Amino acid sequence: MEVKKRENWGSTLGFVLAIAGSAIGLGNVWKFPYITGQNGGGAFVLVYLFCIFLLGMPIMLCEMAIGRKTRQNPYGAFRMLEVRRSRLSKVLGWLLIGMGLVMLCSGKWGFALLTFAASALVLKLGFAAVGLFSLFAAMLILSYYSVIGGWIVEYVYKAFSGQLNVPDVESAEKLFSDFIGNPMQVTRWHLLFLGLAALMIWCGIRNGIERWSKILMPTLFFLLVALLLRGVTLSGASKGVAFFLTPDFSKLTAAGALEALGHAFYTLSLGMAITITYGSYLGRDKNIFTSALWVVLLDTGAALLAGLAIFPAVFAMGFDPSDGPSLIFKVLPATFYNFPGGFGWLWAGLFFLMLTIAALTSAASLFECGVTFLIDQLGLKRSVAVILCYVGIGGFGVLTSVSCATWEHLPGVHGVLEYVFGEVKSKNWFVLLDYVTSNWMLPLSGLFTAIFVGWVWTTRKAGRELRISAGSLVDENLITYLSGFRGEPLYRSSRNHGLTVMTLWGLLVRFVAPVVILALFLQSIGVNLG
Ligand code: PFF
Ligand code: NA
Repeated sequence: MEVKKRENWGSTLGFVLAIAGSAIGLGNVWKFPYITGQNGGGAFVLVYLFCIFLLGMPIMLCEMAIGRKTRQNPYGAFRMLEVRRSRLSKVLGWLLIGMGLVMLCSGKWGFALLTFAASALVLKLGFAAVGLFSLFAAMLILSYYSVIGGWIVEYVYKAFSGQLNVPDVESAEKLFSDFIGNPMQVTRWHLLFLGLAALMIWCGIRNGIERWSKILMPTLFFLLVALLLRGVTLSGASKGVAFFLTPDFSKLTAAGALEALGHAFYTLSLGMAITITYGSYLGRDKNIFTSALWVVLLDTGAALLAGLAIFPAVFAMGFDPSDGPSLIFKVLPATFYNFPGGFGWLWAGLFFLMLTIAALTSAASLFECGVTFLIDQLGLKRSVAVILCYVGIGGFGVLTSVSCATWEHLPGVHGVLEYVFGEVKSKNWFVLLDYVTSNWMLPLSGLFTAIFVGWVWTTRKAGRELRISAGSLVDENLITYLSGFRGEPLYRSSRNHGLTVMTLWGLLVRFVAPVVILALFLQSIGVNLG
């Protein structure tokens, strides 16, 4: 099979920072801290780490291997690797129909319809459907991610121009709802933010994303550490540290554990085409395994730093963090405003700047998926692909930005818009998109990816792409058999111990990941597992 010539990352560092840039985003700075707070602090962190290393990282290795092996966008990649249409894809297609029926019976007809659509796609296209599906998820996510990105840029502007005068949470709340209620303003910032992401990838991999990531990611960590030092040196900060890290196993429920698992996927940007796309630009001489390890460590480090920067400050200023989602736009501005010694605006500005960087590198990674797809499948020039994506996603994102609007801001067209978008607004488009993508699309595509690598492409071939094999043949024991590495050269030491890093990975991908993700999936769409 002919492999097309393709641009490569300049260095492993560049690749790692770009993927870390995708991984580190609102999930680390905003979501991780508050779900940790709600689920028993340190106890939750332990479960989360477990999920990251035993499920997140193995799947990340799969995606990187798929990308590098095929040097294709996800759709082309699955198509290329599924040489013959596998029988397994048929089985899975029918299984999806079955799941759809279960959903129908439990009254989840929305999910049921989506699931039937997905099953039709799988029956028609085989595993290539998974590639398309994850690309679709990526574009949907980008359309609303960019709107939140816009909010954040607006807050940087607000902070530095002295408009963030919010002594208490109530006034912060008012400021926030006034802002998101104004659709013109929100749309403007959304398009600006998406434009920045487009700019990042306009110049390609090496001169675009890689160069930007090498500047932005160190800046991000620098700002995080600065905020952390400020936070923990406030008086009363220790309560916040305790809230974040003290393990309280009584607060950890089964639902909390599943949440940790779901978050492990979300935080590593898995199941949404990104790691396959970025992996497709990785040179053959680079080590996938160490790259993935670094990404996981950086992402987890950022999440922990963010928690340690946020909670001490919130507690020291006497606010309540249990608020959850509204934490960053409501509680934090008020927290910064009350910092002793003034300069609250500066800390707020730095915080939102840090958040802008985090969100921007994540958005760029989503954007690149669409662009790579258009370049590969339609043979478009990069610049044309970027413009097409910008117009398509930007336009679609407007639905999100107006979905939070109060309509008084649009005199004249008010009536028309109410008529056209009233429906969308009442269903809360924003929440719907987030819910469907993170709870339905990501686990599903993660599940199919694991099954595909484990059983269709096989861990044995994927393992060669990971290139940590060395030495001569293994003994044929049960573990090498189950993990799919029978008759494959692994570590020399494996002659003595059947369980190596590779066989462990094989077992996780073939058995553990599919079962656990399936459980997560059923749970999150509301099928009670009892
Ligand atoms: N991984 C990112 C985070 O933790 O914030 C979130 C994210 C980025 C989700 C890109 C989805 C995405 F496509
Ligand atoms: Na993340």
